[in-house]
Amino acid sequence: MPLFINCTKKIYQLRFKNPLKINLGMINLVREMTETNLRSAYAGESQAHMRYSIYAERAKEEFPNVSRLFTAVAFAEQIHATNHYRNIETKGGATTVSAAVFGTRTTSEDLQAGIDGETFEITEMYPVYKAVAEFQEEKGAVRSFNAAYQAEQVHLALYEKAKEAVDQGNDFEVGEIQICGVCGYTLEGDAPDFCPICGAPREKFKAF
Ligand code: FE2
Ligand code: FE2
Ligand code: FE2
Repeated sequence: MPLFINCTKKIYQLRFKNPLKINLGMINLVREMTETNLRSAYAGESQAHMRYSIYAERAKEEFPNVSRLFTAVAFAEQIHATNHYRNIETKGGATTVSAAVFGTRTTSEDLQAGIDGETFEITEMYPVYKAVAEFQEEKGAVRSFNAAYQAEQVHLALYEKAKEAVDQGNDFEVGEIQICGVCGYTLEGDAPDFCPICGAPREKFKAF
């Protein structure tokens, strides 16, 4: 077998087995990709936290339960942002860009904005960020992205139900909303004994 084919085959085998080992000179560059995603997710979650807080304020009078839902989910997004932040190792200097929603005027539009944002996170952003972090063996980032991915699915379902009610002129009939104070997992009803995502005990849940 010609030498260059043999070498190519070896490189392919090495890359397939351990993608980080073959790119010895690029380890920082590769890791930076997960960090870029963490910074972007941090920016997105921070803005979502603020947006949902604004939406909660606007819904307070007419739709108090929707307002409570926005406040609860805003808290979950704060936890997601915090966990992403803690996994970022580089310091300063980065400009973060994240998709943002402006110009909503009604609670129905606010809920639609929430539905659109959560859908993007579930169908594109977090599956891709998680796959990159897994490829780069960044376990902390994998945990952080996965926890957000799980919670966003609950947020989407709650926002969709809330929008149906609001579009019929009603408030959202919803029980207590529980947020895991460790990973941001969200559920309606009683707090579980342990968080199904991160394993935190019941007392770590905050009720809204
Ligand atoms: Fe989130
Ligand atoms: Fe969310
Ligand atoms: Fe949790």
